[in-house]
Amino acid sequence: MLTASLPIRHVSEFSAEVRESLTKPGQRELPSKYLYDEVGSALFEAICVLPEYGLTRADARLLEKYSREIVGRLPSPIQVAELGSGSGKKTRWILEALSRRQRTYYYPIEISPSALAACAKELGQIDLVSVVGHEQPYLEGLRTVAEGRGERDHLLVLFLGSTIGNFDRDAGEEFLSEMREILQPGDALLLGTDLEKSIELQLLAYDDPAGVTAAFNLNLLARINRELGADFDLSSFRHQARWNRVERRIEMHLGSMCRQTVHVPAASLRFMLDEDETIWTESSHKYQAEEIPEMAERTGFRCDGQWIDREWPFAQNLLIAG
Ligand code: AVJ
Repeated sequence: MLTASLPIRHVSEFSAEVRESLTKPGQRELPSKYLYDEVGSALFEAICVLPEYGLTRADARLLEKYSREIVGRLPSPIQVAELGSGSGKKTRWILEALSRRQRTYYYPIEISPSALAACAKELGQIDLVSVVGHEQPYLEGLRTVAEGRGERDHLLVLFLGSTIGNFDRDAGEEFLSEMREILQPGDALLLGTDLEKSIELQLLAYDDPAGVTAAFNLNLLARINRELGADFDLSSFRHQARWNRVERRIEMHLGSMCRQTVHVPAASLRFMLDEDETIWTESSHKYQAEEIPEMAERTGFRCDGQWIDREWPFAQNLLIAG
């Protein structure tokens, strides 16, 4: 695979965001995008095969079953950009369906180099598919891809796995609007969204008995120790998954089991955590199927199709830029 436009990502960007989010007045936070270093990406792959976490399998089942139908609704010729490709496994179904009718360029956009490499390995060998990875933030990468497209080319943007759920609802819509600005009328966005299910199932999905999700969450502190020289004592933090009823989201937190001081040298930061104080590390918003066409209308898209998995309520939504 080629990796285009590799920017130099400074430690200072990571440390500045860590500093800012940890010192926020009120609830301390850490940005969820930093969960995915090499260890975190591997742990996330393990989460995806947990029986309690049905999300990824539902996403993949829908793509396996309906890729031809979805591709049949797309304009031609079309190139594919994927935001947060992860390992790229479920994308195979779409690329195979598309490559039956045309040579396809596939641009995974991903800030995790290890995920990008895994994705290239997984998808690099499909006939008539060329993979060009972009190690960039989502919208920056999408802009690069959109600017580089041929005169007649349409774009299909894949935003799968309910990654949009990491955004607060407002920010998610803002993100869709910004994406729409970069696209041309007729371009498509295939958006995967996890649907609301029983609170019990949702909590288990984010607090599995084997502790894989706990390890995924705690690894964020381990990463800050490794990369920023911090001294988080992982054994004094406990993974928590909470259902926020008002916001309709799962929140992951790391709860401090005692009053303690933490030092993050590369962020020139020293702070104290009270016993039971938490650091909020991720939100995973859940949706009602009807919510998606409404979001589409408000952000300059039209929902052209919706495919729902009944075994694990999850929806693929095909949005067309208006
Ligand atoms: C990859 C962001 C969709 O929110 O369900 C899995 C990440 N976090 N278990 C999600 C995750 C905890 C996942 N996304």
